[in-house]
Amino acid sequence: MTRNAYYLTTAIAYPNGEPHIGYAYELVTTDAIARWRRLEGHEVYFLTGTDEHGIKMVQTAAAQGITARELADANSARFRAVTQTLNISNSDFIRTTEPRHRASAEQIWRKMLANGDIYQSTYEGWYSVRDEAYFDEAELTTATDGKRFTPSGAEVTWVEEPSYFFRLSAYEDRLLAHYEANPQFILPLERRNEVVSFVKGGLQDLSISRTTFDWGIPVPDAPGHVMYVWIDALTNYLTGVGYPDEDGKMFQKFWPADLHVIGKDIIRFHTVYWPAFLLSAALPLPKRVHAHGFLTSEGKKMSKSLGNVVDPFAPLAEFGVDPVRYYCLREISFGQDGDWGREKFVNRNNADLANNFGNLAQRSLSMIAKNFGGVMPERNGTPVDNSIIFETIAGIERMTTAMQTEQVHEATGELIALLSAANLYFAEQAPWAQKADLPRMGSILATTADVVRRAAIAAQPFVPDSATKLLDLLAVPADQRLLEHAVAPGQGVPAGTMLPPPEPVFKKFEQLKSS
Ligand code: MF3
Repeated sequence: MTRNAYYLTTAIAYPNGEPHIGYAYELVTTDAIARWRRLEGHEVYFLTGTDEHGIKMVQTAAAQGITARELADANSARFRAVTQTLNISNSDFIRTTEPRHRASAEQIWRKMLANGDIYQSTYEGWYSVRDEAYFDEAELTTATDGKRFTPSGAEVTWVEEPSYFFRLSAYEDRLLAHYEANPQFILPLERRNEVVSFVKGGLQDLSISRTTFDWGIPVPDAPGHVMYVWIDALTNYLTGVGYPDEDGKMFQKFWPADLHVIGKDIIRFHTVYWPAFLLSAALPLPKRVHAHGFLTSEGKKMSKSLGNVVDPFAPLAEFGVDPVRYYCLREISFGQDGDWGREKFVNRNNADLANNFGNLAQRSLSMIAKNFGGVMPERNGTPVDNSIIFETIAGIERMTTAMQTEQVHEATGELIALLSAANLYFAEQAPWAQKADLPRMGSILATTADVVRRAAIAAQPFVPDSATKLLDLLAVPADQRLLEHAVAPGQGVPAGTMLPPPEPVFKKFEQLKSS
């Protein structure tokens, strides 16, 4: 039997500025996955937070005339606020400046040291503050003025300082064997192939401490050294479930993580360095790292100079949380790059949520209110009625399959497809034309309402508030809202149940008038 606990994380964000859309997108997708696993009945632990140490924080704070701690405190609170605004169901919000985390980072360091994987030397090479990462000369491009840049366009500086190193070179074979034995350890597959060829190209030992600033976790017994921010950061995933208390209940229950959701730019840290650190510390490896793509805005790369950086709060204030969540989950293929576009957003919302889902619910429920006094009629189970229920169940099963590998865009696509089929059924059965045969009208309405119930159960991870409202309108008891109830036979809401007065759950939005 597979374990019932399910542990997933987002990457933790640098709080060196205001919350950005990349973090918001990652939260929404990870939240949909977390909620899906809960829907399946798993005990889910969902961690997110902020990555507060490192030179980038020091420099940003200095430029603002405040301390790194003040910068971290102010911005971490804003990142945390995003989780509330987006209705994210995280279990905890970790800050790497917390004492519990320091204890954890010290412990993994000690384990790696005891295993013979850490040695002292001098680092000489290029460093990108923006990426908080070291680069080889061969990875850089040199401008005419001699400045060197990383592939992502960040400038590097030359660093020469005493440093501790991690014996990454010793892990090449073990990493390759792990990728081989666990074909879904890295998703999507194109990312996996990149990582495999990177590791096959040979690994160099990694500098893991810094001595030129002190905003970090001190290396145990090594005055003057703070840990490289990525060792510190990655370890948050352990801290979140109780490390260093390895024998503790929480750690035993939730480690290893089932899923790390990250952006595609930090895949090397999560699929090469992180598993190597864990192997060194004799800890089990996470089951999967799934990398999502980047977002553009109206087809253009977002940048401050273009002035098209989407404030994650602005569309939320205009449209509400669920439609924005839905767009992120349906319009963008998880793992690929995607685009935020207002026109596409309005089309998606109106077609899928307002017209498809919303109308099916509103039309069936208001006919029950009008013709049956709000009392759920009886399904008499004609073959057409039964077959739309079977189709619905099959659609939800396809959603389940898609969610096994986090294909949220496919899962939401299946949801809309099953609702389209039910709209067709509704139009063909034309309950409004059955005034002379009330039992037949009742059966069509009860069947449609049962499709809406099943769909609303399955929609909870994606549009939680709207789905909850629909389930309330259908008088579905709180303990009947799990995935198993969406695929079980029978009419979930018994005939004779009094329903609350129907009201529309989804809204339509207007396109901007073109000038
Ligand atoms: N702060 C890093 C970034 O934004 C991500 C750290 S994820 C971690 O790129 F888990 F490694 F912490």
